[in-house]
Amino acid sequence: NVTLAVLTSGGDSQGMNAAVRSVVRVSIQLGVTVYFVKEGYHGLIEGKAYITKANWYDVSFTLNLGGTIIGTKRCMPFMTREGRMKATKNMISLGISNLVVIGGDGSLTGANIFREEWPSHINELLKNSNYCLFLLTFGNKHLNIRLEEIDEETSKKFDHLNLVGIVGSIDNDFSGTDMTIGADTALHRILEAIDSIVSTAFSHQRTFIMEVMGRNCGYLAVKSALMCEADYLFIREWPQKLDWPEKLCKNVQMARNHGKRLNIIIVSEGAVDSNGNAITSEMVKNVLVDRLNQDARITVLGHVQRGGSPSAFDRILASRMGAHAVMCLLESTAETEPKVVCLNANTIVHQSLMECVKSTMEIGKAIEEKDFDRALKLRGQSFNQ
Ligand code: F6P
Repeated sequence: NVTLAVLTSGGDSQGMNAAVRSVVRVSIQLGVTVYFVKEGYHGLIEGKAYITKANWYDVSFTLNLGGTIIGTKRCMPFMTREGRMKATKNMISLGISNLVVIGGDGSLTGANIFREEWPSHINELLKNSNYCLFLLTFGNKHLNIRLEEIDEETSKKFDHLNLVGIVGSIDNDFSGTDMTIGADTALHRILEAIDSIVSTAFSHQRTFIMEVMGRNCGYLAVKSALMCEADYLFIREWPQKLDWPEKLCKNVQMARNHGKRLNIIIVSEGAVDSNGNAITSEMVKNVLVDRLNQDARITVLGHVQRGGSPSAFDRILASRMGAHAVMCLLESTAETEPKVVCLNANTIVHQSLMECVKSTMEIGKAIEEKDFDRALKLRGQSFNQ
């Protein structure tokens, strides 16, 4: 009888529930026992009340819900070996050695460290167990400790952890997959907001600076700029030369000279100039007010982008990925390296989790080293979507 657990970790994204639902229902259909881990890695460390058996109906009517019904939390203790060891103990006490992690690159990297360490956790638990058994021969004092540890049989049965990752993030910043769960919905949210702004901007002949999320990734900014006919775009992977204020004013003024009544400027929250210095929405606004005497306003979309109902695309993507994750786990052995479920040319596939994490980190490194050409090239896959 196979048992698996599913958790969501890091920032939430629309469609995570569809992935959880799919993991639960496909597991049950295949006779696999499935557990929810509430509040991400925090729940894995806390155990007991946080790890609960899921049934078919627990996930009814969750496809349409944004966020994650099983909760998520940024968890510092999971960064420590001690924390991860507690998580191992909690999992095996429930007979779980299969795990689906739905989260961003940080959460998936953490999951891989957990998996690599797992056999050493088991050894240590067994060693402690023997030690406690020894103490037991001198009296019943340590009986409660003994009951918390594991025996030879259990240690053999749970000698490795099978792990599969699914990328849930509005940022679409993960190498290996064309789309991450939530990015499509976030893009819809941004475009809805810009569409609303356009009518008031038109009336007042204003310029709006729209600040969008994405952390270091310009995907949401690039796509929304293209789809709303923005006049200017600032992203991290394509830093503006230091004369950007002149270029910005030229573009904006040219549009106005041709009768355009409004301008839309998209600023990604991670935008920088060619020296690597931040370009903020405030800076952009000040340039337009000071140099062109424009009536400019800033709208920071913030977490609105991460909320609300998932799009049809994200529901379908997440459902397909969830089902694939379960199949992957069922095929896993001690020798199988951890996988991440990806979308490649509209086909759901799995790839080496660590290879994908490595190339995602390479983009981050290129950005840090100000090698923006390389960063943009590496982003190619997702920007083409
Ligand atoms: O990674 C998703 C994301 O929404 C980023 O776009 C943004 O920079 C960050 O999370 C915000 O994090 P928090 O919700 O912790 O403020």
